[in-house]
Amino acid sequence: MQEKYIDETKQGEAYAIADKIGNTKKLFLESYGCQMNMSDSEIVASILNDQGYNTTLKEEEADLILLNTCSVREKAEQTVRMRLSKFKSLKRTKPNLIVGVLGCMAERLKHKLLEEEQLVDLVVGPDAYRDLPNLLKETEGGKDAINVILSKDETYADISPVRLGGNGVTAFVTITRGCDNMCTFCIVPFTRGRERSRDPHSIIRECKELWDNGYKEITLLGQNVDSYLWYGGGAKKDFDKASEMQQLTAVHFAELLDMVATELPEIRIRFATSNPQDMSLDVFRMMAKHHNICKYVHLPVQSGSDNMLKAMNRQHTRQEYLDLIREAKLIVPEIAFSQDIMVGFCNETEEDHQDTISLMKEVEYDYGYMFAYSERPGTPAHKKMPDNIPDDVKSRRLQEVVDLQGELSTLRMKSYVGKVHEVLIDGISRKNVNQWKGRNSQNAVVVFDIKEGTKLGDTVQVFVNSSTRGTLIGEML
Ligand code: SAH
Ligand code: F3S
Repeated sequence: MQEKYIDETKQGEAYAIADKIGNTKKLFLESYGCQMNMSDSEIVASILNDQGYNTTLKEEEADLILLNTCSVREKAEQTVRMRLSKFKSLKRTKPNLIVGVLGCMAERLKHKLLEEEQLVDLVVGPDAYRDLPNLLKETEGGKDAINVILSKDETYADISPVRLGGNGVTAFVTITRGCDNMCTFCIVPFTRGRERSRDPHSIIRECKELWDNGYKEITLLGQNVDSYLWYGGGAKKDFDKASEMQQLTAVHFAELLDMVATELPEIRIRFATSNPQDMSLDVFRMMAKHHNICKYVHLPVQSGSDNMLKAMNRQHTRQEYLDLIREAKLIVPEIAFSQDIMVGFCNETEEDHQDTISLMKEVEYDYGYMFAYSERPGTPAHKKMPDNIPDDVKSRRLQEVVDLQGELSTLRMKSYVGKVHEVLIDGISRKNVNQWKGRNSQNAVVVFDIKEGTKLGDTVQVFVNSSTRGTLIGEML
């Protein structure tokens, strides 16, 4: 998470663990893109666990290879295509091997992957994973299979995900699927469909299950968690008239947070992703009310220029965003923010770019994810606006925001020095096996020497002595 820049040429993450006694077939499952895909892969592993598949980390021994893919930028798709051509040659030596594409590329490219490119046997969109057992039967019989139907109500609420490759301490819990926002640059509404919220009771049940199994932190996930909405006995779609819905008590995101934090007072709660246009101050009030809700918000802004925000169909101005941050800091003084910023969108001028630079300085983000605009076929921007910023200008602007974020991160990390932080231990430091690694409430990575009697999953107090751009270094009290 602390990476300042996402490397989309990197191979996806493959996980093992899902072992069920008696299963004989092997699944190699690799995930690309957002946390939602990682979470979806856990649902897929759960469904396939019941179909005789255990996961493996070795692609050579797999009977089934699935790539859970991302379409958000062209580079992410290119990386997956390279992986697929590799698997195509593997298939020559192993004719019974089934290769499938899941997720956003399945949705975007549909039949193209099966027919024109003949790279895969199986194509399954994000709302069709329940159909995997049937689709697999078709492919095992030698046919290609596809299901890319998007749903208005699928939330996989009743499926207990198999936790893959995690540390046994932190886990994702999906609360909404899809997105209705239609930012002009974004492919997500087309690949993941309409927004829908999951029954709060099933969310709490899943969180309790995680707590009972030793998990100490959950991240509530959605493309836009702030628009979470659940009505009494059902979802929006179950009611004919708006008036019928009004009579029932609605559960908004802030109330969901309150419910989870109250029911599980000791579990740490995070959430992602927030959207400035839909975020209410009540969310910050809940953060202030509950110690166990972490004081950190990932709040993508994309640009600091009103012209760009408008062209992107982001439903807020620069000033409204800054006001939201200012009010949040009043309610939760110790709050930290991170950003997503996209440079080089259609018609972006040097002045627009400078507006982004000045906004970053004003907010002082802890860290961020920065991207150059990549035109995606079928999006409103692709249909109506020119992708007219030259690559060298995009790269230069990207470098400028990345460098500035580096400076801001260094400053923010310095501000944590000389203080005591509550840290949840989630692993061993990558650089030093004698040190624990964990995160503070603001999501900063903290490393410190291992003390006898401490273990993974413990929450400890750490005094921070020094910092780098992305890490706090301290000692346990
Ligand atoms: N709400 C989502 C956003 C998904 S896309 C979430 O949960 O994170 C993640 C980020 O990718 C966006 O915030 C945006 O900064 C970037 N992005 C989206 N579409 C893009 C495009 N066409 N080109 C470059 N970056 C893009
Ligand atoms: Fe994409 Fe905007 Fe939704 S960035 S995921 S359309 S909030």
